[in-house]
Amino acid sequence: MEKSSSKNIAIFISGRGSNFKSILDHINEINGEIKIVISNKNALGLNYAKEKNIQTLISNDFEKISSIMEELNIDLIVLAGYLKILPKNFVKKFFGKIINIHPSLIPSFCGKNFYGEKVHEAAINRGVRYSGCTTHFVSDVVDGGPIILQKTVEVSQNDTPKTLAEKILIEEHKIIVESVKLFCDDLLTIKGERVIIK
Ligand code: GRF
Repeated sequence: MEKSSSKNIAIFISGRGSNFKSILDHINEINGEIKIVISNKNALGLNYAKEKNIQTLISNDFEKISSIMEELNIDLIVLAGYLKILPKNFVKKFFGKIINIHPSLIPSFCGKNFYGEKVHEAAINRGVRYSGCTTHFVSDVVDGGPIILQKTVEVSQNDTPKTLAEKILIEEHKIIVESVKLFCDDLLTIKGERVIIK
């Protein structure tokens, strides 16, 4: 099989950036290069980029962000703990090129009001025995795009939103890397609401 060309990656973060860090730690296994890290605020995780001399930008101006994506020939945008909802025209323009990670088994506990510990609080209160995480392509429905990978985590009776978040985060770090790898090897195809992995 012909090797796919190396992909230009942009990472979007809003916080501590541990999912971004996981991608950085495995970058040698990924057929791609991180060209820029963008945040909607002065996020802690930007420091990982600075340590590696990766370009960073703090901006909420999506016209500007969109033209930077084009200038840098970005093939893949990874929302790695990015808490802002992208404008619809941005999503439309880059559909099929934006991957998000969400800390639940979509379609449970997802959508507009489910972020941070609220997700885990809702899962615990609902009494589910399993939760987990999902990577998906971003569509104009919040957390509603085609699912790439999921991983389950058992919810124990003693779990708090904090302990459940910690357990799920370990799995997030794995599926985000795996999803980026699959994308960069041209192994993902969107078919309607589904993702086919070659
Ligand atoms: C993760 O749980 C992610 O799924 C959620 O926010 C958290 C971000 O963590 N959207 P980090 O910034 O990657 O450490």
